[in-house]
Amino acid sequence: MAMFLTGLLLLVLAVPSDPNALPPGNGQAIVQQKCSTCHALKVVTGKKASRQQWSTIVDQMITRGADVPDDDIDTLVDYLSKNFAPAPAKAGAEKGQNRTGPVNVNTAPASELAAALDLTEQESMSIVSYREQNGNFKEWRDLTKVPGIDSKKIESNKDRLVF
Ligand code: HEC
Repeated sequence: MAMFLTGLLLLVLAVPSDPNALPPGNGQAIVQQKCSTCHALKVVTGKKASRQQWSTIVDQMITRGADVPDDDIDTLVDYLSKNFAPAPAKAGAEKGQNRTGPVNVNTAPASELAAALDLTEQESMSIVSYREQNGNFKEWRDLTKVPGIDSKKIESNKDRLVF
């Protein structure tokens, strides 16, 4: 029984979606050792921030008492901004592909569709491959035929779609 329970525990600990699990890389050990003393690691892993913002956060944590040697700061900020970066859709939105302007669904690349229409990467890539196979979309209803698409997202943005 004890063996079984230990096995179960190991299994639970090994689940990759564990919010306290850190992706491997230079800096993993620093986060593990220095960033879990005051709050749960999921405070760190649940945050999405740019390099600039991580640099500010790390400075704040050091001010609060995090014991990170100066030599480790760059490695740490690199690690955090690489693994806990804002989602690409958001990066697109920051570049000016806003969520209120018109979107040409016959020419926009997948990344722009995702950012502009709040689609998943999967959904936006399906739109691109569907139009490559079936030709241009003519009206918003055509987009709801794309496999895997959430038609509510399309309908709620239908007035912004350009063909
Ligand atoms: C000396 C204590 C301490 C240590 C060590 C520490 N933090 Fe924090 N951290 C805090 C406090 C206090 C807060 C604010 C309260 C909270 O969110 O729990 C916080 C909040 C945060 C937040 C959320 C703030 C936001 O802007 O969303 C992040 C992210 C974070 N810490 C990252 C880190 C990282 C990365 C490290 C390791 C370099 C670290 N912390 C080490 C004390 C600490």
